[in-house]
Parts: sequence; structure tokens; C-alpha cells
Amino acid sequence: MKTSILINKYGSAESLDIEKTPQKESLDKHEIEIDVHYSGINYADIVMRVGLYQDAPPKPFVPGYEVSGVVSNVGSEVKNYNVGDEVLAGTRFGGYSSSVIVPVEQVLKKPTHLNMKEAAAIPVNFMTCYIMLIEIARLKKGDKVLIDCATGGIGSIALQMLEKMGAETYGLSTTEKKFKYITQYNAQPILRSEFTDFPDKDFKFILNSSGDRKAINSQLDHLDLGGHLFLLGINSILKDGKKSLARTLKTLIGAPFFHTFSFLQKNRTISGANILNYFDHPKWLIKTFQALKESDYLKPNIGKVYSFKDVTQAHLDLEQGKAFGKLLLDWKNH
Ligand SMILES: NC(=O)c1ccc[n+]([C@@H]2O[C@H](COP(=O)([O-])OP(=O)(O)OC[C@H]3O[C@@H](n4cnc5c(N)ncnc54)[C@H](OP(=O)(O)O)[C@@H]3O)[C@@H](O)[C@H]2O)c1
Repeated sequence: MKTSILINKYGSAESLDIEKTPQKESLDKHEIEIDVHYSGINYADIVMRVGLYQDAPPKPFVPGYEVSGVVSNVGSEVKNYNVGDEVLAGTRFGGYSSSVIVPVEQVLKKPTHLNMKEAAAIPVNFMTCYIMLIEIARLKKGDKVLIDCATGGIGSIALQMLEKMGAETYGLSTTEKKFKYITQYNAQPILRSEFTDFPDKDFKFILNSSGDRKAINSQLDHLDLGGHLFLLGINSILKDGKKSLARTLKTLIGAPFFHTFSFLQKNRTISGANILNYFDHPKWLIKTFQALKESDYLKPNIGKVYSFKDVTQAHLDLEQGKAFGKLLLDWKNH
């Protein structure tokens, strides 16, 4: 038996259930079983908990995209991994669990520059930043970049990657209290409420994670010729972790539409990504994990580590904006 955190019904953080569930009896030949030490928490887990995540499986299901732990069993054809290896893994759901079984491509031996907590904190954020900044935007030294969610998990990895490549980076935050999370990576902080009036209109790349019409329009207005607006999330549909039909409709109906000719006329690129889709393609997993192994300068910013029994509190802290850095669930020390 394993212990898992389940979404049996959509709702508040209190609606998450902790249950004992049976583990699969035998592994497929290319699968690995991991005794989980830490599970990473992502904002998307909250979005799926309230029932707004389109790609989530039918209820009941176990959320969670990433874990670190120790290999406890390997399928008959698995090479290069042995029982006892310390690993990290991407999980396409199911990561909030004391034990997971995943295809071998989704597993990476824990890079030596990361400890177990950092290893659970990095898969989703690194994959997102790598695909977005390197594979899609192909950013390079000197490029002027704005990250709108600069103080969160994605922001911390993005800012480190941009600092390493020598980009000129700016980051938004709702509050000056969080500016230090931006300046520590040699990026320049700007208050979110003041960005519309920011005088520079020559950004090569802007990351939008709010999905909000006003923010999108203002960010488009700040792009350089040939600039790129990248859409990553819809932060604006939730407030304090609660969905409201009015807010959701406002965001969805208010989303700007673009005529194809406008790209021709205005010299710009708008794109986006659902990183989950990359999990289905071994080619992308292999490429991303190789890049992660080589990125030994990266240090995920670990916030609070909660016993899995305190998952409700962890979700409350994240949705109420009380969290700094990456939040983790601990399956061993409780
Ligand atoms: N498309 C994908 O595949 C994918 C993958 C990973 C993440 N995401 C999305 O990326 C976003 C960031 O994820 P995360 O893990 O870094 O979250 P996180 O660690 O919870 O951080 C939340 C961040 O959102 C910022 N924020 C608050 N209000 C905002 C607003 N109106 N507009 C933009 N940002 C705002 C916060 O900044 P301040 O508190 O400083 O204002 C903070 O930096 C989320 O929307 C998430 O769903 C998407």
C-alpha cells in the first residue's frame, strides 16, 4: 500500500483527502518504482483542485508533477538504474504519493549539485524555463527580457538562466517586499502596478503568466520590433485559491483575439506552451534532462517543506500568496 493525496471532489484546500491506496503489483518492463522523499507543489495543482484544469484526469485522481526519492524497483528491461539510486522524476499527475511508478524516460539520476529537496523542486520549473527560453525563444546574451512572475518558482529558475546567459532582465512583482528575489539575480525589479507606464518599449521577450487582457495589451505595447510575448498561465482567474465564475468568465471572454494580419503588420510573435505535453515525448524529456544535468549553477529557491499530512496548509499558503520559493511535501520526516 502507498499513501496518496487525492482530489475526490473539486473545492477548497480542505477538500484534499489523504488515503492508503494499493500499489500496482508488477512493473512494466520499462518502468521504475520510486520511494518518494519529496513531492513538488505547483500552482497548477491548485487550479486542478478547484476544477479549472482542462487536462486533469477524471476524479478521483492524485495531483503532482514531480518528485525526488530512491529507486525501490525496476522493470525487467530498465538499464542504468538500480534499486537504491537517488533520482528525480517528472510525473504526469500522481506525484503527491509516497511511492510512484513512472516510465524510465521520466526519471533522472539526481544531479550531484542538487540535494533531495532541490531535486523535487526543479523538474517542472526547469523544463518550463528550458523549453520556453532556450528551445522556443532562443534567447541569448544581451537580449532584453521581462518575466512577469519573477518571484515564484518559475521566476527563480528563469532569472538564474537569464543571468547565466547574460540577458538584460527585468522582473515584475506585486510588492517591493519581494524585490530582493529579483535583484539577487542581477535583474531589475518593477512594480506590477507601474509597468504600464514603464518607458522602455524594446523588450525582445516578455513572459505573461496572468492571462489578463490589460496585462497582455500593456506587455504587447512594450515589445521591440520582432518581439515575442509568451503566454504561460492564467494567474488572474483565481483569487486566494478560490475560483469565481465571474472572474473566470471575465478572463476567458476578455482574452484578446488576434487577426493573422496583425502579426504581419505589427512585427511580433505570440506563443505559449503547456509543458505537460512535453512529458509524453521521450525526445523532449531526454533533451531537457541532459540540459538539467549540465546546468550545475542552478539552485532552486526552496520555500517551506510541509509534512504530506499538512498538504491543506501548503495549498492555503500558496493560494493566499504567503509562500516564498518552492513548496514541497515531505514523505519521510513526519
Ligand atoms: N503552461 C505551463 O505549462 C506552465 C508550467 C509551469 C507554470 N505555469 C504557470 O506559470 C505561473 C507561475 O508559476 P510558479 O510555479 O512560478 O508560481 P508560484 O511559485 O506560485 O509564484 C507565483 C508567482 O505569480 C506572481 N503573480 C501574482 N500575481 C500575478 C499576476 N497578476 N500576473 C502575473 N504573475 C503574478 C507572483 O508574484 P508576486 O507575488 O511577486 O506579485 C509569483 O511570482 C503560474 O501561472 C503557473 O500556472 C505554467
